[in-house]
Amino acid sequence: MKINRGRILITGGAGYIGSHTALQFKELGWEVAIVDNFSRGNRDIVARLALPVFEENIGDSAAMERCLREFRPDAVMHFSAFAYVGESVTEPRQYYENNVEFTVNLLNTMLNNDVGAFIFSSTCATYGVPASTPITEKTPQHPINPYGRSKMFIERILEDYDAAYGLRSIVFRYFNAAGAHSSGLIGERHAPETHLIPVAIHAAVEKKAMAIFGDDYPTPDGTCVRDYIHVADIADAHARGASALLSGSNSDVFNIGNGSGYSVREVIREVEEVTGLTVPFQTHPRRAGDPPALVASSQKLREQLGWQPRYPSLRSMVESAWAWYQIDRENQGHGFN
Ligand code: UFG
Repeated sequence: MKINRGRILITGGAGYIGSHTALQFKELGWEVAIVDNFSRGNRDIVARLALPVFEENIGDSAAMERCLREFRPDAVMHFSAFAYVGESVTEPRQYYENNVEFTVNLLNTMLNNDVGAFIFSSTCATYGVPASTPITEKTPQHPINPYGRSKMFIERILEDYDAAYGLRSIVFRYFNAAGAHSSGLIGERHAPETHLIPVAIHAAVEKKAMAIFGDDYPTPDGTCVRDYIHVADIADAHARGASALLSGSNSDVFNIGNGSGYSVREVIREVEEVTGLTVPFQTHPRRAGDPPALVASSQKLREQLGWQPRYPSLRSMVESAWAWYQIDRENQGHGFN
C-alpha cells in the first residue's frame, strides 16, 4: 500500500499511545504537531519527540481554533481521553465531559475550519461482553462501563457528522496496548499505573504482592483474558489509516489486536520468564467493569489496509516493557501504588 504523508495534528500526543504514534509519523516523514494539556500526559516524554506542542485543552474551542488556523492540518488524530475503566465507573461525569463533550467541541471546531479527516481512538471496551469471539467490527456494541460508552457515543456521532457534513473518519478499536518504543526513548508511564504488564513488572521488582482481580471468570484458568497488542503495531495501523483518509477513502472502523488471548496468570508467568523474577500476587474480588474475555479479529485491518503486526508475541511486548521499566525507573518517579 502506498503511504501518503501530510500534516497531522495529534491530540493527546504526550500520552502513551499518542506519543508512540507521533514518533512513528515523524519517522515516516509526516509534518506533526501535538496538542496536550498535560493533565495526564508527560512533559519530559513529549520533549524527547522534538515536535511542536500546543499546550491547550481540547475543550477550549477558541484555543483549538487557534491551533487549527496556525498548523492547518490535513487530518486530526484524537488520542486525548480518560481511559481507566474502573475510574469511569466511579467518575462517569469526568468521562462524559472529557471524552464526549470535548471531542464534540473538537469536531465542531474542525468543521468550522474545513478540516475534514479524523482518526479516532476507540476501544474494545465498546463491545462489552461479546456473544462470541473473536470480536469483529460487526460484533454488536454493548459496553458495560462508562468509558466504553463514552467512546461508542463518539463513534455514532462520527457517523452522523459524515452523513451530514462529509467529515470522514477512521475509527480504531484498540485491544490492550502494551510494550514500548524499540529505541528506549519513550514508553508507558501512567499515574496511577493500573495496566497489568507494568504492574506485574513492578510487583516482581519490589517483591510486593499485586492484585489479581478475580479468578472466578468463565475462562480456562478463571482470570480475565485479553488480546495484547504492541503499541508500535497500533501506531503502524494509524499511519495506514491516515494515509488512506488522505487519499480520499471513506469512513471506516477497524479493530487492532493480534487475535490471541492471554489470561492474567499467563501474563504474570511471561513477566516472570522475561525478568527472571517471581511476581508475588494475591487474589482480590473482580474489578468493576471488566469483561471476562476480549479477543480481536483484525482480519479487516490486514485485508483493507495491508497491516501486519511486527511484534505479535506477548514475549516481545513484555521484553520491551521490561527494558523501558528499567530505563524509566532511573530517571522518573512512577505512578505505582
Ligand atoms: N489486572 C489485574 N491486576 C492489576 C491490573 C490488571 O488483575 O493490577 C487485570 C484486569 O482486571 C484485567 C486485565 O488484568 O482483567 C487487564 O487489565 P488492564 O488494566 O491492563 O487493561 P484493561 O483490559 O482493563 O483496559 C485496557 C485499557 C482500556 C481499554 C481496555 C480494553 O486500559 O483503555 O484495555 O480492554 F479500553
